[in-house]
Amino acid sequence: MQIKQFDSVNELTTAVAKEIIESVKANPKLVLGLSTGSSPIGVYSAMVRDHKENGTSYKEVTTFNLDEYVGLEPSDVNSYRHFMNEQLFDHIDIPKEQTHVPMGIGDLVDNCKKYEEKIRAAGGIQLQLLGIGTNGHIAFNEPGASFDSLTHIEQLTEDTVSANVKFFKSEDQVPRQAITMGIQSILNCRRIILMAYGAKKAKVVKEMVEGPISPAVPASVLQKHGDVTLFLDNESTALL
Ligand code: GLP
Repeated sequence: MQIKQFDSVNELTTAVAKEIIESVKANPKLVLGLSTGSSPIGVYSAMVRDHKENGTSYKEVTTFNLDEYVGLEPSDVNSYRHFMNEQLFDHIDIPKEQTHVPMGIGDLVDNCKKYEEKIRAAGGIQLQLLGIGTNGHIAFNEPGASFDSLTHIEQLTEDTVSANVKFFKSEDQVPRQAITMGIQSILNCRRIILMAYGAKKAKVVKEMVEGPISPAVPASVLQKHGDVTLFLDNESTALL
């Protein structure tokens, strides 16, 4: 795993945005994997700013998001589809039909199968952006998740529910299940950028980088991938 360390969150998010923008410029038909949570918000605003100021175009880019809550309509303000539209898609020139977020309503098993088919039909994800949960999850693959999983339905742990309550009015509103790309779907991505910052992530960053590869810390599986770059700040690297 390659590590890039930054003195500030602003420098870190700017650098991640730059990587994505350069990849889009090098390949205007990039198949780009995106993530949610608070970590990528600064990345998306830097991409929007660059699109407005420098005209980087996303007209031919295809995106796949990692996950979505079960039971939320795409129009729900707490859905990851809504988050992505609001943070990024509504402000760049990507046609919405080229943006994919798993569907958390309807026939969930069929939605999972179709999502993998769509990724395959697009030729696979070339660059995937990841965050990391304080319990080591990537996307919504919680501790214990199988390493050979594809897109599936996942039961969220209480840790994750508490960590994500910041986006909801109260804890009982946080869905307890999600549709998520699996660990194998993530390992299939050609190149991975994982970003993490803040003291809260220091313990899990150490486990991901130095710990044994174990389903107890799903992100540790990234040690097996040949092209992963970690974008970290000084606080999240404090225990390395
Ligand atoms: C959610 C998402 C993950 C994300 C994680 C970290 O649970 N499903 O993809 O990496 O949150 O969130 P944050 O960036 O808010 O710490």
